[in-house]
Amino acid sequence: MTLITQGAEAHLYKTTFLSPSIPAALKIRPSKPYRHPILDRRLTRQRVLQEARCLARLVREGVNVPGVLGVDWDLNSVHSLKGVEKGEKGVGAGAWILMEWIPGCVVRVVISRWEKYLSSRSHSQGNGSVQAEKEEEEAKILALLRRVGAAVGILHKAGVVHGDLTTSNLILRGTGADADAEEEWKDGQEPNLEGDVVLIDFGLASQSIQDEDRAVDLYVLERAFGSTHPRTEPLFGEVLEGYRASYRGSGSVLKRLEDVRMRGRKRSMLG
Ligand SMILES: Nc1ncnc2c1ncn2[C@@H]1O[C@H](COP(=O)(O)OP(=O)(O)O)[C@@H](O)[C@H]1O
Ligand SMILES: [Mg+2]
Repeated sequence: MTLITQGAEAHLYKTTFLSPSIPAALKIRPSKPYRHPILDRRLTRQRVLQEARCLARLVREGVNVPGVLGVDWDLNSVHSLKGVEKGEKGVGAGAWILMEWIPGCVVRVVISRWEKYLSSRSHSQGNGSVQAEKEEEEAKILALLRRVGAAVGILHKAGVVHGDLTTSNLILRGTGADADAEEEWKDGQEPNLEGDVVLIDFGLASQSIQDEDRAVDLYVLERAFGSTHPRTEPLFGEVLEGYRASYRGSGSVLKRLEDVRMRGRKRSMLG
């Protein structure tokens, strides 16, 4: 197994399923030794089940998310991964989900490569065709941003809000190297912006068709986008356009988003 990421909540490994040629993603939620064991078991169980149920339901609805291959939510069951992880943190057990591996790169990395590519190009400017070229390239990033918005819209249409929308929780399927191969990238190389946008990381997702919940989902993405990609932030409106076009009912959510923003601003003014 290859460790891909080790976040505060979950560890993500790349492994295989049934045959060595079928890659799979193993997401482990380690038990937290500082938490009361009964509370720990209950919370871990809830998050893992939540994520697995959401994914299963969304696959059924035809939303672009990884399929679930297996799950164990009981930290103490015979299937739990005791001893698999004994790293620096001394983790001994964890509940887990095994899911389809989505080849590609997270949107966060794709956009930051794009920003680097643009700034490397702007040094070599100087003739008339540059403007046309620039517009052509901008069209590609705009199209990606609209696909991001559409992916969120299709999720909402299926009756689920994500709860943690960031550009790290979106994978652009089939774009060159996997997320774990970031080093192979040469700065200034043009990134591939094609491919389907796949949503991942449903540990905080819930079922809702409320405008308010949907608008908060968009607001979280908007804030995350602004802090992760300040150079591309002026184009965020394109995400909302993609969202608008993706399902009936998006209009009232976008109106609600304005209220949510206003409350956010007031809150930050009060400190
Ligand atoms: N099904 C998957 N296929 C490929 N890579 C994945 C998959 N799920 C997660 N990853 C990678 O692992 C990272 C962490 O997974 P995620 O579910 O977002 O956990 P966390 O709760 O730690 O953010 C993702 O940002 C992505 O790079
Ligand atoms: Mg994540």
